[in-house]
Amino acid sequence: MSPLGSSSWVARPEMAAHHGPSDYLSAEFAREHFRQAMRGLVGAVNVVTTVHQGERFGLTATAVCSVSADPPRILACVNVTGRTFHALLDSRRMAINVLAHDQQVIAQAFAKFSGAQDDPFAVAGSWRVGHTGAPLLDGALVSFDCVVAEFFVTPSHAIVIGEIRDMHVADQRPPLMYFDGVFGTLGKLKA
Ligand SMILES: Cc1cc2nc3c(=O)[nH]c(=O)nc-3n(C[C@H](O)[C@H](O)[C@H](O)COP(=O)(O)O)c2cc1C
Repeated sequence: MSPLGSSSWVARPEMAAHHGPSDYLSAEFAREHFRQAMRGLVGAVNVVTTVHQGERFGLTATAVCSVSADPPRILACVNVTGRTFHALLDSRRMAINVLAHDQQVIAQAFAKFSGAQDDPFAVAGSWRVGHTGAPLLDGALVSFDCVVAEFFVTPSHAIVIGEIRDMHVADQRPPLMYFDGVFGTLGKLKA
């Protein structure tokens, strides 16, 4: 199936058609420059999960942010070539699990760093079933349990907007962050 799925889910199909290099930068330079520049963008690390026909799927994602409080919505940008995106399209269920500083091994398992095809749910973390059926991580800083409200699909990534149906907040611990190509954490500044 095309990663674009049903065309009614594409917000602006004319934008999806444009995916060539910038008009004024060579494609190679633009890619390298982008990679370098993105190393400076600090991200909180999350595991985005879903379940479809009894099978669990998930990926590590830093491209996650709050959308609105009313209705309560959150978004994740998900690569359309991955397994998890296709499962999200079919299931329309999504959980976003915000990782704590001591959960790096879980981030690595869901980024499939080793290249192994092992089930990352079996490799790392303890999981339970959320209200929507999506997998929730025990010990996540926060788990947002959502139904998918919208997909905005571009040729490489989809913006997946989840409407939050349930939330679980754990005790406050330092978060897991990604910056300059490595995992780290965040400390509060003194006032
Ligand atoms: C720190 C980090 C952040 C990442 N952020 C994203 C992201 O925001 N969106 C995404 O699609 N992939 C992201 N990835 C890559 C996916 O985790 C990785 O490609 C994963 O294997 C895809 O799994 P899938 O085939 O089940 O979709 C990230 C990887 C790392 C290590």
